[in-house]
Amino acid sequence: MSTTLTRAPFDLARIRADFPILGQLVHGKPLVYLDNAATTQKPASVIEAETRYYETENANIHRGVHLLSQIATRDYENARKKVARFLNSADATEIIFVRGATEAINLVSNSWGRKNVGKDDEIVITHMEHHSNIVPWQMLCEQTGAKLRVVPINDAGELDLEAYRAMLGERTKLVAVVHVSNALGTINPVKQMIAEAHAHGACVLVDGAQAVSHLRVDVRDLDADFYVFSGHKLFAPTGVGALYGKKALLQKMPPWQGGGDMIASVSFEKTTYNALPYKFEAGTPNIAGGIGLGAAIDYVEALGFEAIAAWEGALLEHGTKVLTAIPRVRLVGTAHEKASVLSFVVDGVHPHDIGTILDFEGVAIRTGHHCAQPVMDRFGIPATARASLAFYNTFEEIDALAAALHKVMEVFPHDGGQ
Ligand SMILES: Cc1ncc(COP(=O)(O)O)c(C=O)c1O
Repeated sequence: MSTTLTRAPFDLARIRADFPILGQLVHGKPLVYLDNAATTQKPASVIEAETRYYETENANIHRGVHLLSQIATRDYENARKKVARFLNSADATEIIFVRGATEAINLVSNSWGRKNVGKDDEIVITHMEHHSNIVPWQMLCEQTGAKLRVVPINDAGELDLEAYRAMLGERTKLVAVVHVSNALGTINPVKQMIAEAHAHGACVLVDGAQAVSHLRVDVRDLDADFYVFSGHKLFAPTGVGALYGKKALLQKMPPWQGGGDMIASVSFEKTTYNALPYKFEAGTPNIAGGIGLGAAIDYVEALGFEAIAAWEGALLEHGTKVLTAIPRVRLVGTAHEKASVLSFVVDGVHPHDIGTILDFEGVAIRTGHHCAQPVMDRFGIPATARASLAFYNTFEEIDALAAALHKVMEVFPHDGGQ
C-alpha cells in the first residue's frame, strides 16, 4: 500500500466497457460490483470464446477423428498450455483441469493424501483457511488417524510464523496454506513457508483461489508442490479450474476418479491408466469453460499484473482511508501485505443488514462468514461485510460504498448502546 496513483495505469473506461454486466442498473442504480472475491465478472472476450465454441466447434474432445473434435481438442489443450504458462509450470502435463479450487484440493487429499499420510502424521493448515482447505484435510485425518495442526493468526490477520516453524517436524507430511485470504485479504509469505516446510521433508499445497487475479504466480519460483485455483475468480466461467502439481509427484499418485479418458486400456481383468494429465481427468470435462479460462488468461496478461497490482493497491489505499473515516466502522484484516479485500464490521449493525441496504443503493458486497468460520471465531464476530475489489473498480465506486454506508448509519443511528 505505498501508492499515490489517482488514475488507473490503463484506459479504465475501455476496460469497463469490456465487461458487459458492469453497465447494468440494479434497483434503478448503477451496479457497483464489489464482490469479486466471491466471483469475478467476465469480459466479452471470455463470453465470446465460450459462445464461439458452442456455435462453431462443439464436439467431444480427445476421441473424435472428425474435424470439429480435432478443433475442440486443440483449443482445449491450448487452454491448458496457457494455464501452464500463466503459472510458469515447466510442462502442460502438470496442469490438471478440475471444477475449481475445491475439487483440486479434494483430488490431492484423496489421491496424494491417502497414499502418503498415515496414523500420527501431521497436516499443517492455518487459522485463515477457506473451508475448502480445512474440511478435505479433516476428512483425511479421520480416515488415516493423522492430526491436523493449525497455525494461529495475530490481530492484524497475519500468520504467526514463529508458531508455524515450531509446528514443523518429522511428522509433518503436508502444509496446506492459502496464498491470499478471502476473508481478510492477507497475502501470506508462501515462498518462505514452502522453503521451511521442504527443509522438514513436507510437501506444500498452496490455495491460490484469491491470488491469481491479483498477483503474478510463479509456481517454480515458489517451489510449490501443488497450486490450485478456480477460473471463475479469474474472470473465467464457473465450473473450471486447475490443479498444478510437480510432475514427479503427480506421476506417483493414483487416480482419484475412474471413468472414460483416464484409462489407457480396460478389460475386466485389468485396467491401465492414461498418462498425465489425463489420468486425473475422468469423464467429459468442461470444454467450453476450459477454453473460456484460456481467454481470461489472455485478457489479464494483456493488461499486465504490474498495472493490475498498482491500480488495486491504489483502490485498497483509498478504500481503507474512506472506510476508517466512517465512525463505527472497523476493518477486520489489516495485514501489512494485503490484497484488495476490505472486510469490516459496523458497531450495532448486523452485516446482513448492511448488505441489504447497500444492495438497494446498487452496491454489491458479500456478508457472512465467507466460508471461513474459524476466522470469524478468531475475531469474536459472527460475520463481516466484505468489499472485494478488482482492476475494473473505480475510486467513484468506493465513494458510492461509503455513501451507502452513511445510509446504513441513518437507518441504524444507534450503536447498540456503546
Ligand atoms: C481462498 C479460497 N479458497 C478456496 C475457495 C473455493 O473456491 P471454489 O468454490 O471456486 O472451489 C475459495 C472460494 O471462495 C476461496 O476464497
